[in-house]
Amino acid sequence: MKKSLTILTSLVLSASFSASAIGDESGDAATKAAIKARQAQMQLYAFNIGLLGGMAKGEIEYNADAASKAAANLAALSRLDQSRSWPMGSDNAKMGAETTAALPAIWAEGSDIMSKGMALGEAAAAMEQAAGGGLDALRGAIGPLGNSCGGCHKSYRQSDD
Ligand code: HEC
Repeated sequence: MKKSLTILTSLVLSASFSASAIGDESGDAATKAAIKARQAQMQLYAFNIGLLGGMAKGEIEYNADAASKAAANLAALSRLDQSRSWPMGSDNAKMGAETTAALPAIWAEGSDIMSKGMALGEAAAAMEQAAGGGLDALRGAIGPLGNSCGGCHKSYRQSDD
C-alpha cells in the first residue's frame, strides 16, 4: 500500500514537472501537437461512429452491448475539453494543407464552430440513450449524429475534392 502510494506521488510529481517544462505553448511544435491531438480525437469519433453506422445500414449485425459502448465513447469524446486543441494560427492557410484541413473560418469573426460542437454533443448524448435500445432506436439517432459531423465539416474543414 505504502509502495503504491509512493509510486503514485512520483507519477503526479513527474506529470506536473513535465507540464511546467513544456511551458510556452505558442511555438510551432506546440501548434503541431495541438493539430495532431484534435485529428486523433476526430479519428476516435470516426472509429466509434463507424460501428454504429455499420449497424444502422445492416452491414454489421446489431449488438446492443457493443452499440452502447461505442455510443458512450462518442458522448465521452464530445465532452473532452478542447480548449488547447484549436490554437489561433493552427489553420491550413498558416500551417499548410499537408498539416491540417482546418479552415481559417474557424477563428474568423462570426464563426459558429462552438454551436456545431454543441450539436455533436447533443446528438451523441441522444445516441447514448438510444443505442442499446434496439436497432430501430439506433437508426433514429444516427441521422442527427452524422449530420452533426457533416455540418461542421462543411463549414470548417477543407474538403478533399
Ligand atoms: C465542431 C466541428 C466538427 C465536428 C462536430 C466534427 N468534426 Fe471532424 N473535423 C473537423 C475539422 C475542423 C477537421 C480538420 C482538423 C485538422 O485537420 O486539423 C476535422 C477532421 C476530421 C477527420 C480527419 C482527421 C485526420 O486524421 O486528419 C475525421 C476522420 C473526422 N473529422 C471525423 C468526424 C466525425 C466522425 C465526426 C462526428 C462524430 C466529426 N468529425 C465531427 C471539425 C469537426
